[in-house]
Amino acid sequence: MRIDVLTLFPEVCEAFFSASIIKRARSAGVVEISCTNFRDFAEDRHRSVDDKPFGGGPGMVMMCGPVFAAVEDVEARHPGPHTRVLLTPQGQRFDQSIARELAGQTHLVVICGHYEGFDERIRLGLTPREISIGDYVLSGGEAAAMVVVDAVVRLLPGALGDEASTDQESFAQGMLEYPQYTRPQVFRGMRVPEVLLSGDHKRVEQWRQEQALERTRQRRPDLLKRRAQE
Ligand code: ADE
Repeated sequence: MRIDVLTLFPEVCEAFFSASIIKRARSAGVVEISCTNFRDFAEDRHRSVDDKPFGGGPGMVMMCGPVFAAVEDVEARHPGPHTRVLLTPQGQRFDQSIARELAGQTHLVVICGHYEGFDERIRLGLTPREISIGDYVLSGGEAAAMVVVDAVVRLLPGALGDEASTDQESFAQGMLEYPQYTRPQVFRGMRVPEVLLSGDHKRVEQWRQEQALERTRQRRPDLLKRRAQE
Protein backbone atom coordinates (compact mmCIF):
# COMPACT_ATOMS: atom_id res chain seq x y z
CA MET A 1 0.00 0.00 0.00
CA ARG A 2 1.01 3.61 -0.59
CA ILE A 3 -0.14 6.53 1.56
CA ASP A 4 0.38 10.19 0.67
CA VAL A 5 -0.43 12.64 3.43
CA LEU A 6 -1.00 16.19 2.20
CA THR A 7 -0.62 18.76 4.96
CA LEU A 8 0.70 22.15 6.03
CA PHE A 9 2.82 20.37 8.67
CA PRO A 10 4.64 17.50 6.91
CA GLU A 11 7.38 17.42 9.56
CA VAL A 12 4.84 16.75 12.34
CA CYS A 13 3.30 13.84 10.43
CA GLU A 14 6.67 12.48 9.30
CA ALA A 15 7.90 12.35 12.92
CA PHE A 16 4.87 10.30 13.93
CA PHE A 17 5.23 7.93 10.97
CA SER A 18 8.91 7.37 11.87
CA ALA A 19 8.28 5.58 15.16
CA SER A 20 7.11 2.23 16.42
CA ILE A 21 4.98 -0.08 14.30
CA ILE A 22 4.56 2.33 11.37
CA LYS A 23 8.33 2.78 11.18
CA ARG A 24 8.79 -0.99 11.13
CA ALA A 25 6.08 -1.48 8.52
CA ARG A 26 7.77 1.10 6.30
CA SER A 27 11.19 -0.55 6.67
CA ALA A 28 9.65 -3.96 5.93
CA GLY A 29 8.16 -2.59 2.69
CA VAL A 30 4.59 -3.17 3.89
CA VAL A 31 3.65 0.48 3.31
CA GLU A 32 5.21 3.46 1.60
CA ILE A 33 4.31 6.77 3.27
CA SER A 34 5.14 10.24 2.02
CA CYS A 35 4.16 13.63 3.49
CA THR A 36 3.77 16.60 1.15
CA ASN A 37 3.36 20.28 1.97
CA PHE A 38 0.48 22.11 0.25
CA ARG A 39 2.69 25.17 0.37
CA ASP A 40 4.95 23.62 -2.27
CA PHE A 41 1.97 23.97 -4.63
CA ALA A 42 1.11 27.58 -3.83
CA GLU A 43 0.57 29.79 -6.83
CA ASP A 44 1.97 33.12 -5.65
CA ARG A 45 5.30 34.39 -4.39
CA HIS A 46 4.00 34.52 -0.80
CA ARG A 47 3.27 30.78 -1.03
CA SER A 48 -0.32 31.41 0.11
CA VAL A 49 -2.49 28.40 0.91
CA ASP A 50 -5.42 30.20 2.55
CA ASP A 51 -7.42 33.39 2.21
CA LYS A 52 -10.31 35.35 3.75
CA PRO A 53 -13.79 33.92 3.21
CA PHE A 54 -16.01 35.54 0.56
CA GLY A 55 -19.01 37.09 2.30
CA GLY A 56 -16.92 37.99 5.33
CA GLY A 57 -16.58 36.33 8.70
CA PRO A 58 -13.71 35.28 10.91
CA GLY A 59 -10.76 33.08 10.04
CA MET A 60 -9.13 31.85 6.90
CA VAL A 61 -10.18 29.26 4.34
CA MET A 62 -7.93 26.76 2.53
CA MET A 63 -7.72 27.65 -1.17
CA CYS A 64 -8.54 25.26 -4.00
CA GLY A 65 -5.40 25.81 -6.09
CA PRO A 66 -2.69 24.32 -3.84
CA VAL A 67 -4.93 21.46 -2.66
CA PHE A 68 -5.98 20.37 -6.18
CA ALA A 69 -2.40 20.72 -7.44
CA ALA A 70 -0.96 18.62 -4.58
CA VAL A 71 -3.56 15.85 -5.01
CA GLU A 72 -3.12 15.77 -8.80
CA ASP A 73 0.67 15.71 -8.45
CA VAL A 74 0.85 12.68 -6.12
CA GLU A 75 -1.77 10.83 -8.16
CA ALA A 76 0.05 11.48 -11.45
CA ARG A 77 3.31 10.25 -9.96
CA HIS A 78 1.67 7.04 -8.75
CA PRO A 79 -0.82 5.82 -11.34
CA GLY A 80 -3.46 3.31 -10.35
CA PRO A 81 -6.58 3.44 -8.24
CA HIS A 82 -6.58 6.21 -5.61
CA THR A 83 -8.75 6.62 -2.55
CA ARG A 84 -8.99 10.24 -1.50
CA VAL A 85 -9.66 10.83 2.18
CA LEU A 86 -10.45 14.24 3.67
CA LEU A 87 -10.26 14.66 7.44
CA THR A 88 -13.08 16.86 8.65
CA PRO A 89 -15.42 16.95 11.67
CA GLN A 90 -18.25 16.83 9.10
CA GLY A 91 -17.23 13.40 7.83
CA GLN A 92 -18.37 9.86 8.53
CA ARG A 93 -17.34 8.72 12.01
CA PHE A 94 -14.16 6.63 11.82
CA ASP A 95 -14.23 3.13 13.30
CA GLN A 96 -12.55 -0.26 12.96
CA SER A 97 -14.67 -1.30 9.99
CA ILE A 98 -13.67 1.84 8.03
CA ALA A 99 -10.04 1.13 8.99
CA ARG A 100 -10.43 -2.36 7.50
CA GLU A 101 -11.98 -0.97 4.33
CA LEU A 102 -9.17 1.54 3.88
CA ALA A 103 -6.57 -1.15 4.58
CA GLY A 104 -7.86 -2.94 1.46
CA GLN A 105 -7.05 -0.04 -0.87
CA THR A 106 -3.86 0.43 -2.88
CA HIS A 107 -3.20 4.17 -2.59
CA LEU A 108 -4.62 6.51 0.05
CA VAL A 109 -4.36 10.24 -0.61
CA VAL A 110 -5.03 11.81 2.77
CA ILE A 111 -5.90 15.51 2.85
CA CYS A 112 -5.49 17.42 6.14
CA GLY A 113 -7.36 20.66 6.50
CA HIS A 114 -6.30 23.59 8.60
CA TYR A 115 -7.49 27.03 9.53
CA GLU A 116 -11.26 27.46 9.65
CA GLY A 117 -12.12 25.17 6.80
CA PHE A 118 -11.90 24.37 3.12
CA ASP A 119 -13.21 26.06 0.06
CA GLU A 120 -16.34 23.99 -0.67
CA ARG A 121 -15.09 23.29 -4.20
CA ILE A 122 -12.40 21.02 -2.72
CA ARG A 123 -15.16 18.64 -1.64
CA LEU A 124 -17.16 19.13 -4.82
CA GLY A 125 -14.22 18.79 -7.23
CA LEU A 126 -12.14 16.08 -5.55
CA THR A 127 -15.09 14.09 -4.08
CA PRO A 128 -12.98 12.62 -1.29
CA ARG A 129 -14.26 10.22 1.31
CA GLU A 130 -14.85 12.52 4.29
CA ILE A 131 -13.86 11.10 7.66
CA SER A 132 -14.18 12.45 11.21
CA ILE A 133 -12.39 10.84 14.15
CA GLY A 134 -15.01 12.03 16.64
CA ASP A 135 -17.41 14.74 17.67
CA TYR A 136 -14.91 17.40 18.66
CA VAL A 137 -13.04 20.03 16.70
CA LEU A 138 -9.27 19.78 16.26
CA SER A 139 -7.23 22.72 15.07
CA GLY A 140 -6.17 20.74 12.04
CA GLY A 141 -6.58 17.43 10.29
CA GLU A 142 -3.04 16.22 11.09
CA ALA A 143 -3.84 14.54 14.41
CA ALA A 144 -6.84 12.88 12.73
CA ALA A 145 -4.70 11.73 9.79
CA MET A 146 -2.22 10.15 12.20
CA VAL A 147 -5.06 8.29 13.94
CA VAL A 148 -6.45 6.98 10.64
CA VAL A 149 -3.07 6.01 9.18
CA ASP A 150 -2.04 4.25 12.40
CA ALA A 151 -5.27 2.24 12.57
CA VAL A 152 -4.95 1.28 8.88
CA VAL A 153 -1.24 0.41 8.74
CA ARG A 154 -1.36 -1.99 11.70
CA LEU A 155 -4.00 -4.01 9.80
CA LEU A 156 -1.77 -4.54 6.75
CA PRO A 157 -0.39 -8.06 6.41
CA GLY A 158 3.15 -8.12 7.82
CA ALA A 159 2.84 -4.86 9.80
CA LEU A 160 2.76 -6.59 13.16
CA GLY A 161 5.18 -9.35 14.01
CA ASP A 162 2.44 -11.78 14.95
CA GLU A 163 -0.10 -12.19 12.14
CA ALA A 164 -2.87 -13.34 14.47
CA SER A 165 -2.63 -10.35 16.73
CA THR A 166 -5.20 -8.06 15.07
CA ASP A 167 -7.99 -10.70 15.06
CA GLN A 168 -8.05 -10.88 18.84
CA GLU A 169 -7.90 -7.25 19.87
CA SER A 170 -10.65 -4.82 20.86
CA PHE A 171 -13.32 -4.24 18.20
CA ALA A 172 -11.97 -6.96 15.87
CA GLN A 173 -14.93 -9.15 16.78
CA GLY A 174 -17.19 -6.29 17.81
CA MET A 175 -16.15 -6.68 21.45
CA LEU A 176 -13.64 -5.18 23.87
CA GLU A 177 -10.54 -7.16 24.72
CA TYR A 178 -10.14 -9.43 27.76
CA PRO A 179 -7.77 -8.34 30.58
CA GLN A 180 -4.09 -9.23 30.22
CA TYR A 181 -1.45 -9.90 32.87
CA THR A 182 2.31 -10.44 32.93
CA ARG A 183 4.97 -10.96 35.63
CA PRO A 184 4.96 -10.78 38.62
CA GLN A 185 2.16 -13.09 39.77
CA VAL A 186 1.45 -10.81 42.75
CA PHE A 187 1.88 -7.03 42.61
CA ARG A 188 0.99 -4.94 45.69
CA GLY A 189 -1.35 -7.65 46.83
CA MET A 190 -3.10 -7.96 43.44
CA ARG A 191 -2.99 -11.51 42.13
CA VAL A 192 -3.06 -12.77 38.56
CA PRO A 193 -6.28 -14.82 38.11
CA GLU A 194 -5.54 -18.45 38.91
CA VAL A 195 -6.90 -19.74 35.59
CA LEU A 196 -4.14 -17.94 33.64
CA LEU A 197 -1.51 -19.88 35.59
CA SER A 198 -3.27 -23.22 35.18
CA GLY A 199 -1.74 -24.16 31.82
CA ASP A 200 -5.20 -25.35 30.74
CA HIS A 201 -5.61 -23.63 27.35
CA LYS A 202 -9.27 -24.52 27.04
CA ARG A 203 -10.12 -22.96 30.40
CA VAL A 204 -7.99 -19.91 29.62
CA GLU A 205 -9.81 -19.41 26.30
CA GLN A 206 -13.20 -19.77 27.95
CA TRP A 207 -12.28 -17.32 30.73
CA ARG A 208 -11.06 -14.77 28.18
CA GLN A 209 -14.28 -15.01 26.20
CA GLU A 210 -16.37 -14.53 29.34
CA GLN A 211 -14.27 -11.57 30.42
CA ALA A 212 -14.48 -9.93 27.00
CA LEU A 213 -18.23 -10.34 26.96
CA GLU A 214 -18.69 -9.05 30.50
CA ARG A 215 -16.43 -6.07 29.92
CA THR A 216 -18.26 -5.17 26.72
CA ARG A 217 -21.64 -5.56 28.46
CA GLN A 218 -20.54 -3.19 31.24
CA ARG A 219 -18.66 -0.59 29.23
CA ARG A 220 -20.00 -0.70 25.67
CA PRO A 221 -23.42 -2.37 25.47
CA ASP A 222 -23.90 -0.54 22.16
CA LEU A 223 -21.26 -2.83 20.59
CA LEU A 224 -23.22 -5.93 21.55
CA LYS A 225 -26.40 -4.48 20.12
CA ARG A 226 -24.62 -3.74 16.85
CA ARG A 227 -23.14 -7.25 16.78
CA ALA A 228 -26.58 -8.77 17.22
CA GLN A 229 -27.89 -6.75 14.27
CA GLU A 230 -25.10 -7.77 11.87
N1 ADE B 1 -10.37 18.22 11.70
C1 ADE B 1 -10.78 18.96 12.74
N2 ADE B 1 -11.50 18.23 13.61
C2 ADE B 1 -11.55 16.95 13.10
C3 ADE B 1 -12.13 15.74 13.53
N3 ADE B 1 -12.83 15.64 14.66
N4 ADE B 1 -11.99 14.66 12.74
C4 ADE B 1 -11.29 14.74 11.58
N5 ADE B 1 -10.71 15.86 11.13
C5 ADE B 1 -10.83 16.96 11.88
